[in-house]
Amino acid sequence: MSEKKPKTGRLAAIVGAFLLVSLAIIFVFKYGERWLRIMLIYLSQSNWARKVISGLPFMQGVARRFVAGETLEEAMAATRVLNARGMSVTLDYLGERVTDKELASESCAEIIDLIDRIEISGVDANVSVKLSQLGLGIHRDIALENLLQLLDRAKLYGNKIRIDMEESELVDITLEIFQTVHDDHGFDNAGIVIQSYLYRSEEDVVKLVEDGAWVRLCKGAYAEPPEIAFPQKSDTDANFVKLTQLMLSDIARENGVYLGVATHDDTMIQATIEYVRSEDIAPEDYEFQMLYGIRRELQESLVSRGHNLRIYVPYGTAWYPYFVRRLAERPANIWFFISNLFR
Ligand code: FDA
Repeated sequence: MSEKKPKTGRLAAIVGAFLLVSLAIIFVFKYGERWLRIMLIYLSQSNWARKVISGLPFMQGVARRFVAGETLEEAMAATRVLNARGMSVTLDYLGERVTDKELASESCAEIIDLIDRIEISGVDANVSVKLSQLGLGIHRDIALENLLQLLDRAKLYGNKIRIDMEESELVDITLEIFQTVHDDHGFDNAGIVIQSYLYRSEEDVVKLVEDGAWVRLCKGAYAEPPEIAFPQKSDTDANFVKLTQLMLSDIARENGVYLGVATHDDTMIQATIEYVRSEDIAPEDYEFQMLYGIRRELQESLVSRGHNLRIYVPYGTAWYPYFVRRLAERPANIWFFISNLFR
């Protein structure tokens, strides 16, 4: 990223980015936020947009707002800072939609190094992975084999691996692989993610509660059609509260469910706090989770009020789709992007 680009290349990248930003502005005024979000999610998955946007000379600096750095060293440094502030961490070696078996193996090897490094350095961190990074797009068994290697290494150290949830076409197979490693291979150090925007999630949660699974609940970061996901934010939020309560219920906790409530939303956080107070649920029975670089004051405030908080810390060179999803979640972030364009 630090390599120098020829001036014409830079100019083309700036003009390209300018066009993208103009497109974004037109979308907001003409179609509103929902369509802007859909457009940004499309851009996060598009190769031509990745080339244009990640080619911009200042982009690395901009991405640093949400990404700890490109190297394992930088990720470990960020983890130490967060640990010193009383927060635990989940580390994500960025990568997704891998279409080459070698690349999937390389990702797996990098993550094994990461697991070793967590153990050697003694930081308070586990690991999050995406199955599409481990080769799910090539063949289910490639992703499964890679995941088993990661779980095996993490288990050696008493550590855990959380399987992130991706777009809706991958939900069934992701849950199936989670069940396979959990039930058939006996890995109780595997965790899963549920998205409250999906209609199906309540049914999935009922099964996970029976199994006493280790679950992160989030709203969902992709653009999903109204046939399968709540189009209104208020419904996604109401479902988030409902699923939180299901996974914090007596029966869920007795079965061994440990919930990560992953949100930056004051209302979701307050609803959780009120529920755990009313049900007399101990702080060690659940945790809040937030993304690196988002709502830092809220992060500090939760810790100072005695809540357990884990920060999701992404690192690596494949930051583009992760970064654009963060823009999609909050259109105001686009102004931050634009201000850097003209700096
Ligand atoms: P909401 O979007 O309503 O935001 C509430 C407030 O938080 C906003 O008003 C703003 O102040 C702040 N905020 C939220 N996003 C911001 C941003 N990008 N930049 C600046 N401020 C922002 N999704 C998924 O599909 N699969 C997954 O595996 C995960 N994993 C995951 C792990 C962790 C630890 C977290 C916190 C989130 C995820 N997500 C995810 C992302 C999640 O689905 C969701 O897109 C974001 O968390 C945004 O939703 P909120 O719950 O924060 O609420």
